[in-house]
Amino acid sequence: MASSQPIPSAPRTGAAAAPTKGTRPADVSPPTIWIDPKTGMPPGPNFWPRLLRGEVFRSNGAEFMRSNAAEFGDLVYFQNFGIRILQFNHPELVHEMLVRDAHHHHRGLVMQRSRMVLGEGLLTSEEPLHMRQRRLAQPAFHRERIAAYGAVIGDIAQRMTAQWTDGAVVEVHGEMLLLALRIVGKTLFDTNVEQEVESIAAAVDAFMGFLPLAFLPLSGLIQQLPLPLMRRIRRGQARLDALIYRMIAERRADPTDRGDLLSMLLAARDEESMENGRAAQMTDQQVRDECLTVLLAGHETTANALTFALWLLASHPEIQERAATEARQVLAGRSATADDYVQLPYLAQIFAESMRLYPPVWVTARTAAEDYVYRGFAVRRGTILVAPQYAVHRDARWYPDPDRFDPDRFTAAAKAARPRLSYFPFAAGSRQCIGEGLAWMEGVLTLATILSDWELLQAQDFAQGSARLIALRPAISLRPAGPVRIALRRRTPLGTSASF
Ligand code: HEM
Repeated sequence: MASSQPIPSAPRTGAAAAPTKGTRPADVSPPTIWIDPKTGMPPGPNFWPRLLRGEVFRSNGAEFMRSNAAEFGDLVYFQNFGIRILQFNHPELVHEMLVRDAHHHHRGLVMQRSRMVLGEGLLTSEEPLHMRQRRLAQPAFHRERIAAYGAVIGDIAQRMTAQWTDGAVVEVHGEMLLLALRIVGKTLFDTNVEQEVESIAAAVDAFMGFLPLAFLPLSGLIQQLPLPLMRRIRRGQARLDALIYRMIAERRADPTDRGDLLSMLLAARDEESMENGRAAQMTDQQVRDECLTVLLAGHETTANALTFALWLLASHPEIQERAATEARQVLAGRSATADDYVQLPYLAQIFAESMRLYPPVWVTARTAAEDYVYRGFAVRRGTILVAPQYAVHRDARWYPDPDRFDPDRFTAAAKAARPRLSYFPFAAGSRQCIGEGLAWMEGVLTLATILSDWELLQAQDFAQGSARLIALRPAISLRPAGPVRIALRRRTPLGTSASF
């Protein structure tokens, strides 16, 4: 980096980008932006040496972006197979990318290419369709609805742990995937997905494996080829479609309002577009796209977050004991409900800190929809813009000793001292996660249910290498690379004391 010059955050060519109000406490350092004198752009890693060393295919994308931030500063520019990529590593720049300049952007490349599977659901659609669909889906995620989902979550979590036995070793990633699927199925579609659980899980798995393809040149063409991965994705999609169209047909036959997302989507009327003098309804295809989107978006992310949280608890016994004490005092042997949520602040801190270290969405991406000037740099149409949660969440400026698991980073006072978007597991702006409230409720109540009855221990045959490190597989979401095995020890029921 010797050839690069640091410049202050002010632009080189007058296109002003003042610090965005409200995103930075007074004593927080402003972004450091450098210029590569050879390109006139921010510096970044060179594509060809990376290609020759094979790193383009091999590297862990999350760690790659973290090392970019450490080496090249708060704004990084590089290319991948001719695709221009701009990486934003400072909370203020993240705000500019996700919120202030959102009108310049479309969905990122992966989401654009995911239309093959997801159609035009919330994750993949562009404006104005996106805002309309979001308005229609929003009531299913209102505070009072989430409160109603609390008891369902408590019940499903308790039924899972009731199957566990003392001394058993559980592969928690698989367990959490099943749990999250049951919860999304029951809360949003009022359906028990027991029959389909395995095929849905396999379909999601195949879809998640699609990410490496999305970045390849000629990816559109590759999608048409009869490759085993593409065949698996299409098979999975056919199964999911069959399930969802069946649910839609059942509901159209009996349109009783069940207060879930599916009822809301089917009953929704768009007053702005009329058909035969009546407000237009969603077609089956539109309802299918939204259902599939929510199923995929709400299942894997929450399951990954819970898996990492359980693994961190198993490897930090003192933190686990403090959390278990809180959970046992609040639940006192009964199943959790939404009212318990506010009584479990330490568990919320644990869930937050887990998602800091292992953000289930490790990078948020957009595509420049037009040419524009950003802080003096020319951003050309088609440039991919990325805000990597994984890198920003592990920046020592906001999180000293950033790799250490410390839930006390999320007390109210500690949070207030940091810039707002130094933490953004659910992104920000008009496309911020619609399921965030449900995810917090699910995370905290599930952890409380588990810790009330079970002590978690790292299993002897722990497959992830060192006790403190877990191998990662960043696909569309950040997942553990292999099975995550945790040994269970039943806690003494409350009110009884051990007799030795
Ligand atoms: C810990 C769990 C979760 C995490 C970390 C997470 C994260 C995110 C992030 C970062 C985005 C924004 C993506 C972008 O801007 O490109 C997003 C969008 C979305 N999430 Fe989540 N999510 C979680 C759980 C859920 C749940 C439980 C649901 C629903 C049941 C859900 C449904 C969605 C949907 C539909 C979108 C698209 C929103 C839009 O574009 O309007 N997510 N999520």
